[in-house]
Amino acid sequence: GLRKKEVNVLCLGLDNSGKTTIINQLKPANHSNHLGPLSEDWKHVSQVQAQEIVPTIGFNIEKFKSSSLSFTVFDMSGQSRYRNLWEHYYKESHAIIFVIDSGDKLRMVVAKEELDTLLNHDDIRIKKIPVLFFANKMDLRDAMSSVKVSQMLSLENIKDKPWHICASNAIKGEGLQEGLDWLQDHIK
Ligand code: GTP
Ligand code: MG
Repeated sequence: GLRKKEVNVLCLGLDNSGKTTIINQLKPANHSNHLGPLSEDWKHVSQVQAQEIVPTIGFNIEKFKSSSLSFTVFDMSGQSRYRNLWEHYYKESHAIIFVIDSGDKLRMVVAKEELDTLLNHDDIRIKKIPVLFFANKMDLRDAMSSVKVSQMLSLENIKDKPWHICASNAIKGEGLQEGLDWLQDHIK
């Protein structure tokens, strides 16, 4: 039979930005979220799962499939003491998801520093892999718009890779499918 192409996706971004919450929403148990209105039961499960998410230690590996691809997602910890782990996975990656807490104005410069370090790394600079940004936590009252986030991070300077930014609310699963559809279309 046809085998799905296997791709490695790195999920990066500062601690508390919502990486694990996003990945959890993509897991098969939650796929009903994207197919239609949730029954009350599923809403409950989804909210409980979101509440129980704890800061990632090191990283977690999650696997899931779309119609054409078989994804291995590396959900990295964003805590500063673990950020040095990120680079060990750059060589093998076919795509990057970079998550930003749109409400965290104070640390936007830190997010930009980490993004710049990533994009200038020897193992990433030369690769034309797609980079998907989630301007997450769009539900927060003082969240910056995705346009504002992309300005703060100077995304317009990324010339050698396809990139895309989506506003998202990972707790409700909003904006995630749009981003993933884009990513899937741009993975070679
Ligand atoms: P590390 O593993 O420490 O790097 O953090 P992370 O990026 O994996 O963040 P995580 O998914 O653990 O989420 C951090 C907190 O933000 C949790 O309390 C989530 O419930 C919350 N959160 C995630 N996404 C959203 C969102 O879209 N809106 C709101 N309001 N809260 C969110
Ligand atoms: Mg996490």
